[in-house]
Amino acid sequence: MSLLLSQWETFLARWGVGLFGEVRPKKKSSVTYGFLMAGRVEEQGTAPLPPIFSAMMSCCAAAGSADSTACGPSVSQQLASGEFLMAGRVEEQGTAPLPPYHKPVLPAEVDQWMDAKPGDVIIDGTLGGGGHTSLFLQEGAKVLGIDRDPQAIDHTRLRLAAYADMLVPFQANYSQMRQHPGLPSTGKVQGILLDLGVSSHQLDCAERGFSFQHDGPLDMRMGPNAVMTAEEFVNEASEAEILQALREWGEEPQARRIARLIVERRRVARFTRTSDLANCIEKALGRHGRTHPATRTFQAIRMRINEELHLLQQALHATIDCLAPGGRLLIITFHSLEDRMVKQFLQHRSKPHIDDPTWPAPRDNPEFVFTLPIRKAISAGAAELKSNPRARSAKLRVAVRNNLNVIAS
Ligand SMILES: C[S@@+](CC[C@H](N)C(=O)[O-])C[C@H]1O[C@@H](n2cnc3c(N)ncnc32)[C@H](O)[C@@H]1O
Repeated sequence: MSLLLSQWETFLARWGVGLFGEVRPKKKSSVTYGFLMAGRVEEQGTAPLPPIFSAMMSCCAAAGSADSTACGPSVSQQLASGEFLMAGRVEEQGTAPLPPYHKPVLPAEVDQWMDAKPGDVIIDGTLGGGGHTSLFLQEGAKVLGIDRDPQAIDHTRLRLAAYADMLVPFQANYSQMRQHPGLPSTGKVQGILLDLGVSSHQLDCAERGFSFQHDGPLDMRMGPNAVMTAEEFVNEASEAEILQALREWGEEPQARRIARLIVERRRVARFTRTSDLANCIEKALGRHGRTHPATRTFQAIRMRINEELHLLQQALHATIDCLAPGGRLLIITFHSLEDRMVKQFLQHRSKPHIDDPTWPAPRDNPEFVFTLPIRKAISAGAAELKSNPRARSAKLRVAVRNNLNVIAS
């Protein structure tokens, strides 16, 4: 009886009043909270690594494109070569920690709002270094990981080898979540996380060509399925296409000037390096303030060649099909374009009724599929910002799937 009562209390505390009316995050004990807030999530539940892999994963040496050899040999290559087996099973090794790959943002908030439980199946559509996934695994959930970057898949498969039977990694776009091989027969899961953008590993690895702070080849592909490299876009797209990209995905006020500049300069010499493009823009525009003048250009090119907004739109629609009633959708955005898209998508689909001045009365919204337990986005607190400056522009939005089927999407 007392067990039943405590389950009921848990249910009420967790879900508030009404079926999906007021949804509250679970309360974490202060001990767990302190641990998470202290930013030690990376170290939890991770399989200790043999030194050979630590050295290998510290990366950024070899030549490269966006395949799994770009930053040193891939884990699968090591596995194939037998070095991994010679070193013994991962779980049996000492405590050599993995080199940093990516520090997850808003870990406590993600853990709290995802509220993963034993028996849950969660899709992590942006597996990255597995930081958020490790939280869900520790709560006893099964995780269907997705990342378009083979390096992320390799890294996380190794890092979380101790959870091999609970983690199913899948190299794909998150827009393909309906095709994940680990989906239950119902096709439905209890949670989906999308932590958008690039990982610290991708940014910091010069050979991946994402950053103007580290010189590298103009690549910027998040994975081998990107439509082209940044080098191809910068040197081969028409001036009009470059202008459109800078305006649409970079919101660059100097778009016309930069597009012209790129086209004029490439007549003299092809752009091949990140520093070449960044210096050319800096020389022409000068530096005002702390932000590098090539920041928006790099963002625009990255979003264009990786088709980021297009794939996000497709993924948002896929979440409706994949979430079971009561399933939680958590999305972390890093800039206004992504956030606007997510906000509009959720706002419209969380209205039970829609209205139009030409209608005699409001009508049922055929696309009403979500409840928003919090209407505002959650941002990182001061403590997290201090330890993880990359969290400064992160915004977490949360939605809960209701039990209505969408009629049109
Ligand atoms: C910010 S990182 C995620 C970090 C992760 N949450 C963690 O805790 O380590 C974003 C990841 O999403 C991946 N990604 C971005 N767009 C994607 C897409 N369309 N499909 C699949 N993965 C994508 C990137 O390759 C990158 O590894």
